[in-house]
Amino acid sequence: MTATRPSAELAIETLGLTKRFGAHAAVDGIDLAVPRGAIFGFLGPNGSGKTTTIRMMLGLASATSGDIRMLGRDMPRDLHQVLPRIGALVEGPAFYPFLSGAANLHRLDTADRFAPASTRRARVNVALERVGLTHAAGKKVRAYSLGMKQRLGIANALLTPRELLVLDEPTNGLDPQGTREVRRLVRSLAEEGTTVFVSSHLLAEVEQMCTHAAVMSAGSLVAQGTLEDLRHVGEARVSVRTPDAVIARGLLANLGLALDFSGPEAQSPDPEADEVVSASLVDRGMAPEAIVAALVTGGVRVRGFTMEDASLEDRFVALTGEGFDIAQ
Ligand SMILES: Nc1ncnc2c1ncn2[C@@H]1O[C@H](COP(=O)(O)OP(=O)(O)OP(=O)(O)O)[C@@H](O)[C@H]1O
Ligand SMILES: [Mg+2]
Repeated sequence: MTATRPSAELAIETLGLTKRFGAHAAVDGIDLAVPRGAIFGFLGPNGSGKTTTIRMMLGLASATSGDIRMLGRDMPRDLHQVLPRIGALVEGPAFYPFLSGAANLHRLDTADRFAPASTRRARVNVALERVGLTHAAGKKVRAYSLGMKQRLGIANALLTPRELLVLDEPTNGLDPQGTREVRRLVRSLAEEGTTVFVSSHLLAEVEQMCTHAAVMSAGSLVAQGTLEDLRHVGEARVSVRTPDAVIARGLLANLGLALDFSGPEAQSPDPEADEVVSASLVDRGMAPEAIVAALVTGGVRVRGFTMEDASLEDRFVALTGEGFDIAQ
């Protein structure tokens, strides 16, 4: 690939990455750019292509077309050089249920030919400690809850220091306390300089944990950038509280605002009762005072007025056409 961009600064870069299952494009030509040092949220509803993308990045599935660079190396060509530098959790590694958590980690660490045997025990203990599983180290994985298995998967990704962690829905099955712990863990890893790429279908989680995000919808990448960028693209919302809702709607529409609903006007039983008229400000150059002035001049009794950026949630719902589960 010709380096027109400073790819060395990107931990992950994909160009036109595509995966087809028969005629269906599960991942459809996506260009991801994950800067080094970022906590990058890979957000999208169920079935939008997150896991498929991650599997291709890690060489677990082949791409139908497109390029992938991980830590500056081509994948899957340089897989053997690059994988030891990456910790990954994808749909949980297969643990032996009849072995303890610690014994499972020992086994997985043994499989890593770069991991020195002499420090294995210490490595396993530190990883278990980091994910809060020290108390259950000797317990058989058969008796682990889903959340404990998920933590063990993260511990596995942390066995050796990594430049990049790729975590597919790491908080799946965790309770709110466990979710907070993972969030804290991810942040502390990022502070140590690890780039973290983390998928989620929970917008709130990405907002609380990440510096950057990309949004997937039905296999396509529909937005990407810093959380700050993503908050500032799109529309502002205007709400007017007034008893003169019909006139207000007409005036806002004349100003070029997009009204929230424009069906037949419901006749309020009390003509003096306040109603709230909401609209999106498509032209963000318009000042709130100009809107209020137009309303007042047009005879609208403005009893309340707010103008605010659409929430990230509104924006992502608009981008993906689907609701995000924002519950913790
Ligand atoms: N091996 C496969 N064969 C056929 N279709 C597949 C296969 N793997 C995934 N898909 C399809 O690809 C699409 C994307 O799936 P993927 O698992 O990547 O989504 P996801 O974003 O990870 O979803 P979730 O949030 O549920 O984990 C889905 O329509 C899925 O049915
Ligand atoms: Mg998935």
